[in-house]
Amino acid sequence: MIPVAEQQNTPSPALCHSEGKINALRLKNRFIKAATFENMTPEGKPTANLSHFHEKLADGGIAMTTIGYCAVENDGRLNDRMMYMGEHIRSELTEFIERLHHKGSKVSGQMGHGGGFSQNSQLSRKRPLGPSFGLNALGIPKGKFFCDAMTLQDIDKLVQTYHDAAVFMKSVGFDALEIHFGHGYGLCQFMSPLTNRRKDEYGGSLENRMRLPLRVLQAVRKAVGTEYPLLAKISLTEGVPGGLNYDDAVEISKMLDTAGIDAIIPSAGTSTMNPMIMFRGDNMLPAMLKYEKSRMMRLILRLAGPIMFRSYPYEELYFFEYSQRIKDAVQCKMIYVGGASTNESFTKLMQHGFDFIQLGRSLLSDPDLPLRSQQSLDYKSRCIHCNECVGTIGHDDGIFCPRFN
Ligand SMILES: Cc1cc2nc3c(=O)[nH]c(=O)nc-3n(C[C@H](O)[C@H](O)[C@H](O)COP(=O)(O)O)c2cc1C
Ligand code: SF4
Repeated sequence: MIPVAEQQNTPSPALCHSEGKINALRLKNRFIKAATFENMTPEGKPTANLSHFHEKLADGGIAMTTIGYCAVENDGRLNDRMMYMGEHIRSELTEFIERLHHKGSKVSGQMGHGGGFSQNSQLSRKRPLGPSFGLNALGIPKGKFFCDAMTLQDIDKLVQTYHDAAVFMKSVGFDALEIHFGHGYGLCQFMSPLTNRRKDEYGGSLENRMRLPLRVLQAVRKAVGTEYPLLAKISLTEGVPGGLNYDDAVEISKMLDTAGIDAIIPSAGTSTMNPMIMFRGDNMLPAMLKYEKSRMMRLILRLAGPIMFRSYPYEELYFFEYSQRIKDAVQCKMIYVGGASTNESFTKLMQHGFDFIQLGRSLLSDPDLPLRSQQSLDYKSRCIHCNECVGTIGHDDGIFCPRFN
């Protein structure tokens, strides 16, 4: 018999290539494409580019791909190049998802809302809405310096918006929905004591700050039914003083679990205050400056860069320990994300009881990763964690890996 320590160092990709289930959904292997906002929806509609991007992943053997940042309404978009859910894109979205199904991949949609963090020039109001009045760092180049606080009516409306978006997304063929509770976006702004300074029942204690996110989960569940898979992406920590921390993440996960989430994806950081903790590796600032078109935004990035882009050297499976803490606290499925790029890592995750693995950058460099992982026991992704692809979010043709494309 092989000793456990030795088993854990021996890549055994067969485990990752076995079928798995999230609620009633069967997935042919354990690899799921992580949400990476593709910026391939210039008119707010899915394009042929977006389709090719995901079709390549489907051809490469991914069990389920995720369409990154599907805003639940126009005012939930971070910018006007994002798509928002609604009848105006029903036929394009339906055909796009059908093409991916035809190629054997399931499709998840990440439900996003920017809250008080937006540079969307088509916003229905002067300023975006967050939990409390505050700075809208993303909106500064567009003259949208601040966000306003939501009223109780705005909160009720937002819950209904998530419900309606979920009904729509299920009806166009999405196989699963991933609700974004992390990275400093709208729901996370309610969860964070840093951005939520409300004095009513939606602010104060963690229970109060979780009231809106849990109402959203309940509304989305009602929209899609009990058997439909719902995933939650959370931040393990916001990585800034006074923000959500690793202990909060355990409590948040327990609340989501009790409220009926099917799987948790623990990530970390916020897009405005501390993005590097989410990625690790080389500083992304040079790439962001290279692809950013707005001179004002480049100036802001230069000034805020040293505080915003902190140094977090890359380590394989950099969220492993903290994700294990979540896994030990909940009953639902666990989806690992963060620096998984070798067969050895995939095997380790499976052996430690993670159910699925989400992959971001290692699929941008190697879209056929699942097939390659099956073919070669000592498979390692070509990704070198230089984070140039993060800068390409500002590229007119959308994201790509500049190193290997
Ligand atoms: C270009 C790019 C865009 C991303 N966009 C999103 C996004 O829209 N939503 C999200 O939750 N995470 C986003 N992420 C983060 C990834 O989902 C993932 O959490 C992160 O890349 C770490 O996983 P990895 O080490 O496998 O790349 C993005 C990552 C990249 C590289
Ligand atoms: S640009 Fe390519 S090599 Fe660099 S982090 Fe992104 S996917 Fe990896």
